[in-house]
Amino acid sequence: MEGFAGKVAVVTGAGSGIGQALAIELGRSGAKLAISDVDTEGLAATEEQLKAIGVPVKADRLDVTEREAFLLYADEVKAHFGKVNQIYNNAGIAFTGDVEVSSFKDIERVMDVDFWGVVNGTKAFLPHLIASGDGHVINVSSLFGIFSVPGQSAYNAAKFAVRGFTEALRQEMLHSKHRVSVTTVHPGGIKTAIARNATAAEGLDPKELAKMFDKKLANTTPERAAKIILEAVRKKKARVLVGPDAKALDIIVRITGSGYQRLFASAMAKALPGGH
Ligand SMILES: NC(=O)c1ccc[n+]([C@@H]2O[C@H](COP(=O)([O-])OP(=O)(O)OC[C@H]3O[C@@H](n4cnc5c(N)ncnc54)[C@H](O)[C@@H]3O)[C@@H](O)[C@H]2O)c1
Repeated sequence: MEGFAGKVAVVTGAGSGIGQALAIELGRSGAKLAISDVDTEGLAATEEQLKAIGVPVKADRLDVTEREAFLLYADEVKAHFGKVNQIYNNAGIAFTGDVEVSSFKDIERVMDVDFWGVVNGTKAFLPHLIASGDGHVINVSSLFGIFSVPGQSAYNAAKFAVRGFTEALRQEMLHSKHRVSVTTVHPGGIKTAIARNATAAEGLDPKELAKMFDKKLANTTPERAAKIILEAVRKKKARVLVGPDAKALDIIVRITGSGYQRLFASAMAKALPGGH
């Protein structure tokens, strides 16, 4: 893909799924990569694939919730490559559970990784992206950052927060005339390990939920998702909807306004195992 040659790109959560596919597609397109994950095995597999195609790569264990480590990491990446052009704040986790039965800890954990991880990455790298004169922040929200469903309140909250944070940042960059583009990514169901890695509130079986997600909801491959995301990055789009499900549901929310909640309250709850 054009437009990435010589760019230094940072990808969090690059040991699996969308992050891994983004890193490889960026590498194939001529970018240099700083990849990180808490899963060092998955990360090593991505690093190996990048090295096999001759891509300059720096791979580090990084937990996106560890703010101090993230700040140090940003300086290390800048020192290593001499500049940083793009950060893909992609690392994320999923959790299923109604508000009534979710613990504060469950909700905080999702916010820590899915929202604060994105804030940490954005703030750590923003000075370097501004200094590059050609920067781009790409924050991964979700289709669930556009509409809410039963059982996903924590994830919905984190992903709506990512969207709000990122849309404000885009306007700030336009207003301040910094040469930093900003894109919010809203994937629909993507065939990754996200549901298999997910946790759930007591009484729900995470394995059953994962089976249902893999069988019924995950329709787009991570490779296809990466191509769609990078095309939007190339075009400096504000928002990218990934997959036909994301596009369709975005339209339903636009048409129905808050009315979608009544529609989905019964439909989605019935679709969930142990649903109600
Ligand atoms: N798969 C989907 O259907 C889907 C849909 C919408 C949004 N998303 C979002 O896309 C992003 C990527 O998810 P994926 O589907 O590729 O899932 P995945 O589970 O395959 O990959 C996520 C990666 O993030 C890493 N990670 C988790 N917690 C971390 C932490 N604290 N610090 C660093 N790394 C951490 C995991 O180890 C894993 O390698 C996530 O933000 C997810 O919420 C996914």
